[in-house]
Amino acid sequence: MAKLNIVGVGPGSADYVTPAAKKAVEKAELVIGAQRSLALFAGEVKGEQIVLTAKNIQNSLKKAAELVKAGKEVALLSTGDPGFSGLLHTALESGLFNPENINIVPGVSAIQASAARLGISWDNARLFTFHEGDVSDDAKSKLVSAYQCGRTIMLLPAPKGFAPKDISALLLETGAAPKTPVYICENVTLENEKITRTTLEKVAAQSFGSLCVMVIKQTA
Ligand SMILES: C[S@@+](CC[C@H](N)C(=O)[O-])C[C@H]1O[C@@H](n2cnc3c(N)ncnc32)[C@H](O)[C@@H]1O
Repeated sequence: MAKLNIVGVGPGSADYVTPAAKKAVEKAELVIGAQRSLALFAGEVKGEQIVLTAKNIQNSLKKAAELVKAGKEVALLSTGDPGFSGLLHTALESGLFNPENINIVPGVSAIQASAARLGISWDNARLFTFHEGDVSDDAKSKLVSAYQCGRTIMLLPAPKGFAPKDISALLLETGAAPKTPVYICENVTLENEKITRTTLEKVAAQSFGSLCVMVIKQTA
């Protein structure tokens, strides 16, 4: 049975693209991905390509569904891992695919790459993503309660509306210790990678690029 292969392409550098991801792309008759994801497979794509944008995502998924129904392999490139704030959710939510028509090729998430750069274990960390723009009161209160429970927090900020400085301001307003260590991991694995080691109170006055992971480190 042909599949929609949702392919994790890692956090950005070609060094973190797995052989499994390459195989899925090579066998696909249609490859759909953002420009920066497609660039990782330059010269390896044999099928048709669609450059994914916020505007064409629904039409691209429709085309992917038609091809899969016609027995053709399709690769949908998702940065990092498809299952964390990635395109798995988008594909399932579209209602165009059954889970049995989907094959997921895991990728290295920006969260994993950031934990590695910082040399921290993330087995007890609480993960949050605000990237999709879910900055509801409920989402914010879950974040505050994770902090108050002493958990290390790893999160994807919302570039617009819930950036690291907004997150720090919220935690400080709700009683967090100003000197709590914070790490901002920007452009991880890319040439312009930057790791900033700072504190909650300092982050509240700083701005960072949109491609970043924020880690709020607690020792409990
Ligand atoms: C749509 S989400 C995709 C997350 C992805 N599925 C993952 O597992 O890493 C995009 C967000 O992931 C984070 N991100 C992706 N690549 C990154 C990188 N190389 N360095 C830092 N953060 C990154 C940023 O917060 C960005 O806004």
